[in-house]
Amino acid sequence: MSDNTLILGLQWGDEGKGKIVDNLSESVDVVCRFQGGHNAGHTIKVNGQKTVLHLIPSGILHDNTKCLIGNGVVLALDALHKELKHLEEKKISFQDRFFISSACALILPTHITLDKVKDKKESIGTTGRGIGPAYEDKIGRRAIRLGDLNDLKSLKDKIYSLVKYHNRLLENIYQHKPHNAEEVFNHIVKFKDLHDKYCVDSQKTMHKWIKNDETILFEGAQGTLLDIDHGTYPYVTSSSTTAGGVSTGLGIGPKFIDKIIGITKAYTTRVGEGPFPTELHDESGSLLAKKGNEFGATTGRPRRCGWLDLVLLKKAIFINSVTDLCITKLDVLDEMQEIKVCIRYDNGVPVYKTFEGWLSKTEGITVFSDLPDKARLYIKFIEEFVECNASIISTGPSRSQTIIR
Ligand code: GDP
Ligand code: IMO
Ligand code: MG
Repeated sequence: MSDNTLILGLQWGDEGKGKIVDNLSESVDVVCRFQGGHNAGHTIKVNGQKTVLHLIPSGILHDNTKCLIGNGVVLALDALHKELKHLEEKKISFQDRFFISSACALILPTHITLDKVKDKKESIGTTGRGIGPAYEDKIGRRAIRLGDLNDLKSLKDKIYSLVKYHNRLLENIYQHKPHNAEEVFNHIVKFKDLHDKYCVDSQKTMHKWIKNDETILFEGAQGTLLDIDHGTYPYVTSSSTTAGGVSTGLGIGPKFIDKIIGITKAYTTRVGEGPFPTELHDESGSLLAKKGNEFGATTGRPRRCGWLDLVLLKKAIFINSVTDLCITKLDVLDEMQEIKVCIRYDNGVPVYKTFEGWLSKTEGITVFSDLPDKARLYIKFIEEFVECNASIISTGPSRSQTIIR
């Protein structure tokens, strides 16, 4: 029996999914992305070398691991091309182990323009990658899909018709200059080799892997609180970032997910606008930002920082049926005099429990019993509060700086 594992974020993204997926990829056959797009920025650090992946699954650094971009992902071909080039420069070979679903909806340059002009009005603080507008077209049954590159003549008609629609929005609602449909068509066709080399019927591929009992790791992007249905709407992303997204984003039923690892930082961060009840605007917040190097891996924007919110964490664990907790960036708290966690809300105001800081180095520790007593107490409190065991604890950005219990 295989042991298929889902790894997803329990907060507002950037929990350290890339690091953990990479760490666990050694022992799996396949890693799949099932939602989101290049709004994601997943950082992996191995032997001092940093790799940031936006679209390609974080298993790609392991030579024998297959990687699939599932139908639920919205795909920017230029961004993918750039990412694959980076891997080639790093001498990572992927030709026979990288696959993309023919049903992925494509992100066109017009989606990016629409995202940016819309965000000027709506102030969500999106990544400006065209994600929302691309999903709108998917749901509106107008999207161009990767498989459409099969037939350039009908692709041209589809793109011309879609660009016409986008231009109507741009000109009439946003007073923005229109795009040239031919340029958009040429931009997409320029990357036809990505279709020719990597496009697969992902339903068939997934079913074959499952039938062969291959071990699959599902890599979430963003986080539960950014989910289109269950997040802090409207300050969310446009996809299902929660466990349900695996089934729709890959075409497999939930019974094939054996283990669900939910990742949380030992504190909280958020990029972009929207509610963040435990946000810190003081010295402690600055310390977290500085020690945690809290800048977005995709946009470089500073991340807002705050204390861990156990009320929200417990809700996220329930939404996803999390079986195992993973706590990352414990080492970032090493210099804090005191550490707080939100344990309830009184009239919308967070109520905190305060812990004494351990004021010693946890960075790089790989054995649980080597952690300072006060750090273990902190973890134990979290586990008991949310009723879920932390089977992975991350003590630094590198692959090896990990405690597996
Ligand atoms: P993702 O989007 O969930 O994959 O997370 P990001 O890569 O956007 O952000 C996480 C950041 O924290 C990256 O810079 C990682 O290298 C870093 N990181 C991950 N785990 C740890 C950890 O345990 N300690 C420290 N100090 N940094 C970590
Ligand atoms: P990873 O996978 C953190 C946020 C944006 C914005 C909102 C909507 O690295 O954790 P979008 O461009 O998706 O329409 O923006 O979602 N956001 C993320 N925040 N990590 C991410 O991905 C994010 N992807 C989107 O900042 O608030
Ligand atoms: Mg990220």
